[in-house]
Amino acid sequence: MKHSLWLMVFTLMLLSCKESTSEEAVAQNEPFEYDMYVPSEMANLMNDMYDHNLQIKQDILDGKQPKEFPEEFLKIHSAEFTKGKGRNETFDNFSKLYISTQKEIYNPDSEVDLKSRFNSSINLCISCHQTECTGPISRIKKLIIQ
Ligand code: HEC
Repeated sequence: MKHSLWLMVFTLMLLSCKESTSEEAVAQNEPFEYDMYVPSEMANLMNDMYDHNLQIKQDILDGKQPKEFPEEFLKIHSAEFTKGKGRNETFDNFSKLYISTQKEIYNPDSEVDLKSRFNSSINLCISCHQTECTGPISRIKKLIIQ
Protein backbone atom coordinates (compact mmCIF):
# COMPACT_ATOMS: atom_id res chain seq x y z
CA MET A 1 0.00 0.00 0.00
CA LYS A 2 2.72 2.39 1.02
CA HIS A 3 4.69 1.56 -2.12
CA SER A 4 1.81 2.12 -4.50
CA LEU A 5 1.13 5.47 -2.85
CA TRP A 6 4.71 6.56 -3.47
CA LEU A 7 4.52 5.28 -7.03
CA MET A 8 1.49 7.49 -7.55
CA VAL A 9 3.31 10.43 -5.99
CA PHE A 10 6.28 10.01 -8.30
CA THR A 11 4.04 9.64 -11.34
CA LEU A 12 2.29 12.88 -10.46
CA MET A 13 5.66 14.56 -10.07
CA LEU A 14 6.67 13.45 -13.53
CA LEU A 15 3.41 14.51 -15.12
CA SER A 16 3.28 17.90 -13.54
CA CYS A 17 6.28 19.91 -12.42
CA LYS A 18 6.11 19.62 -8.72
CA GLU A 19 9.73 18.63 -8.05
CA SER A 20 10.49 21.57 -5.82
CA THR A 21 7.24 21.38 -3.84
CA SER A 22 7.74 17.68 -3.20
CA GLU A 23 11.28 18.21 -1.97
CA GLU A 24 10.00 20.83 0.41
CA ALA A 25 7.26 18.52 1.59
CA VAL A 26 9.72 15.67 2.16
CA ALA A 27 12.00 18.03 4.05
CA GLN A 28 9.09 19.08 6.23
CA ASN A 29 7.95 15.48 6.57
CA GLU A 30 4.48 16.09 5.13
CA PRO A 31 3.86 13.22 2.73
CA PHE A 32 0.10 13.22 3.38
CA GLU A 33 -0.37 16.30 1.27
CA TYR A 34 -0.31 14.03 -1.79
CA ASP A 35 -3.49 12.26 -0.74
CA MET A 36 -5.31 15.44 -1.58
CA TYR A 37 -3.57 16.30 -4.84
CA VAL A 38 -5.71 18.90 -6.57
CA PRO A 39 -4.38 20.42 -9.80
CA SER A 40 -4.03 24.19 -9.68
CA GLU A 41 -6.14 26.49 -11.84
CA MET A 42 -3.03 27.03 -13.98
CA ALA A 43 -2.38 23.27 -14.32
CA ASN A 44 -5.99 22.77 -15.44
CA LEU A 45 -5.70 25.61 -17.93
CA MET A 46 -2.46 24.13 -19.29
CA ASN A 47 -4.11 20.75 -19.78
CA ASP A 48 -7.03 22.44 -21.59
CA MET A 49 -4.56 24.33 -23.80
CA TYR A 50 -2.87 21.04 -24.58
CA ASP A 51 -6.13 19.33 -25.59
CA HIS A 52 -7.30 22.33 -27.58
CA ASN A 53 -4.03 22.55 -29.51
CA LEU A 54 -4.22 18.83 -30.24
CA GLN A 55 -7.60 19.55 -31.88
CA ILE A 56 -6.16 22.51 -33.81
CA LYS A 57 -3.32 20.29 -35.04
CA GLN A 58 -5.88 17.75 -36.29
CA ASP A 59 -7.90 20.50 -38.02
CA ILE A 60 -4.80 21.77 -39.80
CA LEU A 61 -3.83 18.24 -40.87
CA ASP A 62 -7.39 17.80 -42.20
CA GLY A 63 -7.03 21.02 -44.18
CA LYS A 64 -9.50 22.95 -42.01
CA GLN A 65 -9.01 26.51 -40.75
CA PRO A 66 -9.30 26.59 -36.92
CA LYS A 67 -12.37 28.68 -36.10
CA GLU A 68 -11.88 31.08 -33.26
CA PHE A 69 -9.22 32.05 -30.71
CA PRO A 70 -10.25 30.37 -27.43
CA GLU A 71 -10.77 33.36 -25.10
CA GLU A 72 -10.29 31.17 -22.02
CA PHE A 73 -6.58 30.97 -22.90
CA LEU A 74 -6.35 34.56 -21.62
CA LYS A 75 -6.70 33.11 -18.12
CA ILE A 76 -2.96 32.45 -18.39
CA HIS A 77 -2.58 36.09 -17.24
CA SER A 78 -4.46 35.54 -13.98
CA ALA A 79 -4.79 31.83 -13.09
CA GLU A 80 -3.50 30.64 -9.72
CA PHE A 81 -0.38 28.47 -9.70
CA THR A 82 0.40 25.33 -7.77
CA LYS A 83 1.41 26.18 -4.21
CA GLY A 84 5.07 27.19 -4.11
CA LYS A 85 5.06 28.59 -7.65
CA GLY A 86 4.28 32.11 -8.69
CA ARG A 87 4.05 34.65 -11.43
CA ASN A 88 7.26 36.47 -12.34
CA GLU A 89 8.52 38.72 -15.11
CA THR A 90 9.81 35.83 -17.25
CA PHE A 91 6.47 34.08 -17.05
CA ASP A 92 4.56 37.26 -17.91
CA ASN A 93 6.78 38.00 -20.91
CA PHE A 94 6.50 34.47 -22.28
CA SER A 95 2.76 34.32 -21.70
CA LYS A 96 2.22 37.55 -23.68
CA LEU A 97 4.36 36.24 -26.54
CA TYR A 98 2.58 32.91 -26.45
CA ILE A 99 -0.89 34.52 -26.59
CA SER A 100 0.08 36.77 -29.50
CA THR A 101 1.45 33.85 -31.56
CA GLN A 102 -1.57 31.70 -30.72
CA LYS A 103 -3.84 34.54 -31.92
CA GLU A 104 -1.93 34.69 -35.22
CA ILE A 105 -3.35 31.24 -36.07
CA TYR A 106 -6.72 33.00 -36.46
CA ASN A 107 -5.43 35.99 -38.43
CA PRO A 108 -7.00 35.75 -41.92
CA ASP A 109 -4.58 38.38 -43.31
CA SER A 110 -1.40 36.59 -42.26
CA GLU A 111 1.11 35.92 -45.00
CA VAL A 112 2.74 33.09 -43.05
CA ASP A 113 1.35 29.62 -43.71
CA LEU A 114 -0.94 28.10 -41.09
CA LYS A 115 1.34 25.23 -40.15
CA SER A 116 4.28 27.57 -39.38
CA ARG A 117 2.05 29.86 -37.31
CA PHE A 118 0.77 26.89 -35.34
CA ASN A 119 4.28 25.53 -34.78
CA SER A 120 5.51 28.98 -33.62
CA SER A 121 2.88 29.05 -30.90
CA ILE A 122 3.77 25.50 -29.77
CA ASN A 123 7.45 26.50 -29.75
CA LEU A 124 6.51 29.26 -27.32
CA CYS A 125 4.88 26.73 -25.00
CA ILE A 126 8.21 24.90 -25.10
CA SER A 127 10.34 28.04 -24.60
CA CYS A 128 8.43 29.04 -21.51
CA HIS A 129 8.60 25.50 -20.15
CA GLN A 130 12.36 25.48 -20.58
CA THR A 131 12.55 28.37 -18.12
CA GLU A 132 10.81 26.69 -15.20
CA CYS A 133 8.73 23.59 -15.85
CA THR A 134 10.62 21.11 -18.01
CA GLY A 135 8.52 18.01 -17.11
CA PRO A 136 5.83 18.27 -19.84
CA ILE A 137 8.19 19.31 -22.69
CA SER A 138 8.44 15.93 -24.41
CA ARG A 139 4.64 15.72 -24.39
CA ILE A 140 4.25 19.26 -25.78
CA LYS A 141 6.72 18.47 -28.58
CA LYS A 142 4.24 15.91 -29.92
CA LEU A 143 1.95 18.82 -30.87
CA ILE A 144 4.45 20.13 -33.43
CA ILE A 145 3.38 19.42 -37.02
CA GLN A 146 6.32 17.81 -38.83
C1 HEC B 1 4.39 31.55 -19.93
C2 HEC B 1 4.86 30.23 -19.61
C3 HEC B 1 4.12 29.02 -20.13
C4 HEC B 1 3.55 28.85 -21.36
C5 HEC B 1 3.49 29.82 -22.54
C6 HEC B 1 2.97 27.54 -21.37
N1 HEC B 1 3.18 26.92 -20.16
FE1 HEC B 1 2.52 25.09 -19.61
N2 HEC B 1 3.11 25.43 -17.68
C7 HEC B 1 3.78 26.54 -17.25
C8 HEC B 1 3.90 26.49 -15.79
C9 HEC B 1 4.55 27.53 -14.90
C10 HEC B 1 3.25 25.29 -15.39
C11 HEC B 1 3.01 24.80 -13.95
C12 HEC B 1 1.67 25.34 -13.47
C13 HEC B 1 1.34 24.93 -12.06
O1 HEC B 1 1.86 23.91 -11.60
O2 HEC B 1 0.52 25.62 -11.43
C14 HEC B 1 2.81 24.63 -16.61
C15 HEC B 1 2.21 23.38 -16.65
C16 HEC B 1 1.89 22.69 -17.82
C17 HEC B 1 1.45 21.32 -17.89
C18 HEC B 1 1.30 20.37 -16.69
C19 HEC B 1 -0.05 20.60 -16.05
C20 HEC B 1 -0.24 19.69 -14.87
O3 HEC B 1 -1.13 18.81 -14.96
O4 HEC B 1 0.48 19.85 -13.87
C21 HEC B 1 1.22 21.04 -19.23
C22 HEC B 1 0.74 19.71 -19.82
C23 HEC B 1 1.51 22.24 -19.98
N3 HEC B 1 1.93 23.22 -19.10
C24 HEC B 1 1.37 22.34 -21.35
C25 HEC B 1 1.49 23.57 -22.03
C26 HEC B 1 1.11 23.75 -23.43
C27 HEC B 1 0.57 22.66 -24.36
C28 HEC B 1 1.36 25.06 -23.73
C29 HEC B 1 1.11 25.81 -25.01
C30 HEC B 1 -0.16 25.57 -25.68
C31 HEC B 1 1.91 25.68 -22.53
N4 HEC B 1 1.96 24.74 -21.52
C32 HEC B 1 2.31 26.99 -22.45
C33 HEC B 1 4.27 27.56 -18.03
C34 HEC B 1 3.88 27.80 -19.36
